[in-house]
Amino acid sequence: MCGIVGYVGPGSSLDVLLGGLKRLEYRGYDSAGVAVLADDGTIGSRKRAGKLGVLVDELDAAPITDGRTGIGHTRWATHGGPTDVNAHPHFGDGGRLAVIHNGIIENFAELKAELIADGEVFESETDTEVAALLIGRAFRETGDVTAAMQQAVARLEGAFTLLALHADAPGVVVGARRSSPLVIGLGEGENFLGSDVAAFVEHTRRAMEIGEDQIVTIRPDRVDVTDFSGAPAQAKEFEIAWDASAAEKGGWPSFMKKEISEEPEAVANTLRGRVHDGAVTLPELDEVAGMLGDVNRVLILACGTAAYAGMLGKYAIEAWARIPVDVELSHEFRYRDPVLDERTLVVSVSQSGETMDTLMAVRYARDRGARTLSICNTQGATIPRESDAVLYTHAGPEVAVASTKAFVAQVTALYLLGLHLATLRGTLAAPDVAGVIAELESVPAKLSTVVESASARIAELAHWMSDTQSVLFLGRHVGFPVALEGALKLKELAYIHAEGFAAGELKHGPIALIEPGQIVFVVVPSPRDPSSLHKKVVSNIQEIRARGARVIAIAELGDVAVVPFADEVIRIPLAAPFFEPLLTVVPLHIFGMELATAKGLDVDQPRNLAKSVTVE
Ligand code: M6R
Repeated sequence: MCGIVGYVGPGSSLDVLLGGLKRLEYRGYDSAGVAVLADDGTIGSRKRAGKLGVLVDELDAAPITDGRTGIGHTRWATHGGPTDVNAHPHFGDGGRLAVIHNGIIENFAELKAELIADGEVFESETDTEVAALLIGRAFRETGDVTAAMQQAVARLEGAFTLLALHADAPGVVVGARRSSPLVIGLGEGENFLGSDVAAFVEHTRRAMEIGEDQIVTIRPDRVDVTDFSGAPAQAKEFEIAWDASAAEKGGWPSFMKKEISEEPEAVANTLRGRVHDGAVTLPELDEVAGMLGDVNRVLILACGTAAYAGMLGKYAIEAWARIPVDVELSHEFRYRDPVLDERTLVVSVSQSGETMDTLMAVRYARDRGARTLSICNTQGATIPRESDAVLYTHAGPEVAVASTKAFVAQVTALYLLGLHLATLRGTLAAPDVAGVIAELESVPAKLSTVVESASARIAELAHWMSDTQSVLFLGRHVGFPVALEGALKLKELAYIHAEGFAAGELKHGPIALIEPGQIVFVVVPSPRDPSSLHKKVVSNIQEIRARGARVIAIAELGDVAVVPFADEVIRIPLAAPFFEPLLTVVPLHIFGMELATAKGLDVDQPRNLAKSVTVE
């Protein structure tokens, strides 16, 4: 949570900081602030509760002198409510040192008591101010921001990214990171720091990863990276795979609408270069081929939407590669003494690659000997860096807080992994692999059809239901994770009570919820599927219809069996069972977005949430 940007160079710090914060606002949006060191050696700062626009208005009303060294922050409150005073930056050394922070300093209470006893006065309720005062005191001793940062971080426990600038050090911004994201942007005569590359991609596509427990000092003409003790450290350079326009709305009314329209492309890009002549080629997994051949169990760890993608991955990997697969919420995993060994492959799924719950679960698994593979959408993020191997999804930057295109890309990557394992283990014959690949390759065009054909009708339904209090979602087999995803989207976007159920579970309790008028979305399996699931789900529909439910069925073209029992049928193109979820999920993404829009809510930045959850 929290977005961080730092700049040194000849340009306008304010332009760079505000542009970076705009692109990082998805990380947190309850307050924002900047500090800029002007050429006359004074630090100008403004910080305000509310979205970034409030800060921009404040800067218009009460401008500060621009300069060539600056830091900016957009906040998701942890310690202390979202107020002007608690907004970042915070100050040390009598206001001559400005600090911004992402994460949680776990020992802040002890440190605060110690600092108060030593005569320091706190203005805010934040843990960040402890760091600001510690770095400020260390600067008074050392006269050097990097050395001061080193001294201060030695006292801090928890997860943090800190950026600091000092009035006596023009052209210097120092960053430190422990279990919290920070990347470097390398420019010509200017350099940048950001929580992720979106902070500076408008200015440069050259970036560098910073490792765990490292400190970076940027100047206009150089970048120095050390560990926390000051020993020089290596940082890996990479090229950002997308340009700034990919993270702009580009005329769409919301990022979410744009990102739903990009779902076909997200699947196509995740497949690109990885399927040839009916076979899967994943060169990024070559180095770990031995390990993959040896695996006897897969454990998928993820949270939220990524965990629902993981459930689909389980069904496919078990069916194709015949390996037992478990899916677990990352935050539950390490607190139950799980059984792991070197033949367990832990697959983490994370759009951001920074979700703290998932990062901690991966570290736990790795420390206990498991092999780790990351499925991630964000280059240079912590989870892929700390994993044995990474399979990047290529969904492009996802800015809306609710995940949409990343979900279909994650499912695609998990399916590729399933096919890769099946090929390595010889559990699927080459023609069967080729058949599955042909299905996968047909998904983007089918997805485009769904986006085009379903959008208008779903928008009408959503507007008609704008005062609905509760919506249920049912699905079975691969339709079940889709039902969960539909319910999550509605909760987080439209603030409506929503539940997703396995349709077969209904009779074990949830059917008691059905009363006249209850809206129920049902994800209907294909009638062409040889299993009897279609008939069973149609029976479930009749059961709830008999009790007064209003049923919206999502069913394939030509499925006439659902028509007599549904109030509305949303059609999807024909696909084999494993590929239906990639299509049936789209109407539910659109529904959540349209219902939130009908209620006048901000679909890109729902209340209380942040895109990247970097606290446990
Ligand atoms: O970045 P990650 O994929 O690790 O994020 C996981 C969840 O926090 C995320 O999917 C969340 O549930 C979204 N709000 C869903 O729309």
